[in-house]
Amino acid sequence: MSITIKTGAEVDAMRLAGRLASEVLDYLTPHVKPGVTTEALDKLAHDYITQVQGAVPAPLNYAPPGYTPYPKSICTSINHQICHGIPNDRPLKSGDIVNIDVTVIKDGWHGDTSRMFVVGEGSILAKRLCQVTYEAMWRGIVKVKPGTRLGDIGNTIQTFAENAGFSVVHEFCGHGIGQRFHEEPQVLHYGRAGTLEELKPGMIFTIEPMINAGKRHIREMPDGWTIVTKDRSLSAQWEHTVLVTETGYEVLTLSEGYPPLPDFVTATAT
Ligand code: MF3
Ligand code: CO
Ligand code: CO
Repeated sequence: MSITIKTGAEVDAMRLAGRLASEVLDYLTPHVKPGVTTEALDKLAHDYITQVQGAVPAPLNYAPPGYTPYPKSICTSINHQICHGIPNDRPLKSGDIVNIDVTVIKDGWHGDTSRMFVVGEGSILAKRLCQVTYEAMWRGIVKVKPGTRLGDIGNTIQTFAENAGFSVVHEFCGHGIGQRFHEEPQVLHYGRAGTLEELKPGMIFTIEPMINAGKRHIREMPDGWTIVTKDRSLSAQWEHTVLVTETGYEVLTLSEGYPPLPDFVTATAT
């Protein structure tokens, strides 16, 4: 399968799926507090997606080749967990940082987005890591336009994160998205400017950098899903689903409750 180009009604369907995914995070936000379990957040998200949105939580039973079916409806990755953390009965505590990653399927189309949450009072390092990762994602997003190459996006994100003293996870990347959860292309969050695929209007993919406070290396947990930092340093991630327009980009995973945009982001649709 090569990179699909979405047009007209397909883009509209992706706009709806993207907004719904973001609205799930808006809905969860007031619940992300000390004492709540990630399992409780998972149930809230599952019920909201299925009963209010009339959509399907894409992670539930998702089983790419070589994986056991994912058992929950969202991913919750805490502290040194990089991604694909599985909701469980452990309460969040003040000082934790947690990534909540939501993917919904609406009318057959996928919207995929994640945010970081600082639970209660976070350390200076934890807050800085979340902020730098947020800015790294947006620095990548604003490069999106026809003619930009995927290597330009990866290089921008890597340079920004490493200048802040952090490292970029190499093993997981952004991805094309549409009627399938993970499509071509792979969107690396590191690399060389001027290399790899040239962007064309109608491409839709995610940008979802995973940034570690320590070294970039990862370890997979025995549950077959959860990825952690090998050195147990903190890790953060933010994710958007982005459309390449004729002149720039449109972020599909925004909603009313979305946090303020960085000041270098002028508009979301150009
Ligand atoms: N939402 C993740 C991504 O951004 C993928 C999660 S796969 C799951 O690509 F099965 F763990 F949910
Ligand atoms: Co994704
Ligand atoms: Co995701």
